[in-house]
Amino acid sequence: MLPKAGHLLVFILVCLPLLSSQSTAIDAKSHEWWQDAVFYEIYPRSFADSNGDGIGDVKGINSKLDYLKQLGVDAIWITPCFPSPQVDFGYDVSDYENIDPMYGTLADFRDLEKNARKHGIRIVLDLVVNHTSDQHKWFIDSRSSRTAAKRDWYVWRDGKDAGDPPNNWISVFGGSAWTFDSATGQYYYHYFYPQQPDLNWRNPAVHDAMVNVSRWWYKRGVAGFRLDAVDTLFEDPQLHDNPVLPGVNKFGDPNEEDKYNTKLPEVHEVLRDLRKVADESGAVLIGETWTKDTAELKQYYGEHSNELQMPMDLMFTKLKFSAPIFRQHIAAVDASGGWPVYVISNHDIVRSYNRYGDGLHNDAIAKVMASLYLTLRGTAIMYYGEELGMENNDPVRKEDVKDPIGRLGWPIEKGRDGERTPMQWNDGPNAGFTGGTPWLPVPASHKTHNVENEVKDPASILNVYRRVLSLRHTNPALRDGNYIALNESDPNVLSYLRTCENQAVLVVLNMSAQPQQVSFDLAPQGFVSRSAHTLMTTMSRKTAEAGLAQMALEPFAVYIGSIPR
Ligand code: GLC
Ligand code: CA
Repeated sequence: MLPKAGHLLVFILVCLPLLSSQSTAIDAKSHEWWQDAVFYEIYPRSFADSNGDGIGDVKGINSKLDYLKQLGVDAIWITPCFPSPQVDFGYDVSDYENIDPMYGTLADFRDLEKNARKHGIRIVLDLVVNHTSDQHKWFIDSRSSRTAAKRDWYVWRDGKDAGDPPNNWISVFGGSAWTFDSATGQYYYHYFYPQQPDLNWRNPAVHDAMVNVSRWWYKRGVAGFRLDAVDTLFEDPQLHDNPVLPGVNKFGDPNEEDKYNTKLPEVHEVLRDLRKVADESGAVLIGETWTKDTAELKQYYGEHSNELQMPMDLMFTKLKFSAPIFRQHIAAVDASGGWPVYVISNHDIVRSYNRYGDGLHNDAIAKVMASLYLTLRGTAIMYYGEELGMENNDPVRKEDVKDPIGRLGWPIEKGRDGERTPMQWNDGPNAGFTGGTPWLPVPASHKTHNVENEVKDPASILNVYRRVLSLRHTNPALRDGNYIALNESDPNVLSYLRTCENQAVLVVLNMSAQPQQVSFDLAPQGFVSRSAHTLMTTMSRKTAEAGLAQMALEPFAVYIGSIPR
């Protein structure tokens, strides 16, 4: 609504100073549910096993909703739990509209959905859009003959003479991206494992089938999807060879630039179509978006904010633990215009505990990381066990590796088993995850880093997560406020303000192993108070107030305080 001429002067006098000091008014608008929600990724094989077969299941998840609620989780993203031969542990789907018997039944899912609703927790599923399992009935038909009804649902091509594949494209999981199928004498394309043939998204029937899968789950109460591997939906129809780069990758294949088989512009048309259907249900679309910079990330929101609401900022997971590096990245993402989506770990990368940890102060560093990404402007997606300081438990012998890329790339690539180990519920056998033999071994650290112990310890990583999440849910500045970087030349301490109307929260993170002294002058932001009121700190000296002119920080200290206007 535009102010009338008579009101314009009042508008300018009252509002402009606010707008300029708080950089943007975007957060004054009311938020969508997914902007205020905290998301939590569950790897269903590893969360909780209800029937003692060593594999987590839907009933197991259902039994842990109280824990998630108390932690401060508003939505869970469950990685694929659909019927699957489990070559890629569920990312090879053989039926999109069912639950794998190893995880339970559709009735179990209904119970979970109902119970989650009671807890105020939404469910997001994983939509594997790029490929199916080779055991999916679509592919079984497709490979049956060159004239099969679903032949064109996948990418089939003749090889080159002399038995060479159609071009030089390499699978990200090793070897050629083409597999020869002797039954029909052609090659099919797979960006991932040969058991994960790529769907042909240029075929409108494929497009409609997948859009309908999303509808099918919305009708069953699902609040959105995490879209798997969206970058790989389209391939150059001319099949140009990719440019070859120097050297070989961890599987011994030549390095290539995936120029002709990833990030084709057609991807965005599909995202817009999936978004239209999501909007009919008030659902959210989260993207597995590996991008090289913020400009590329920005494209996934869509030119008219009509693509993904939540493209994940996975660049965040690649940053070195350093105040200037995070400061620069956060500023770039915050300024880019999209709603940021921060992530520090997932089922494909080494756990944050190990990645940021220095081997000496890992617990303290885990608390700094929690306090960082959960207090930024944007939505956070947690990974199960991160709130405990769960660490990677990589296999030490090739014969123990479950993830096929770990067997293929051993010992350079050990696979992703290490970051997928069972949730550590207590210090008992198998960390309380199962009464049977767990599908992956539990690390020794479960003796100390587990839910039962950490709930009792006020200084635990878990209790830092709980306190920060509770602040985030109750403090409007932390939830909705603008982000204002402070002391931007400090090489060790990352600090910022979150401001919303009359409220401000100061976040101070010592990202170094040395004690630090900091000083804040918040007058330019309109705050004249000389002290902050402590909301949360990991320091051993806990005071109700902290002076802003001279603040002493212990190594890897977190300080969060509110600033009175
Ligand atoms: C995504 C998933 C990963 C899976 C791959 C193929 O990257 O996160 O776990 O292996 O897609 O579906
Ligand atoms: Ca089970």
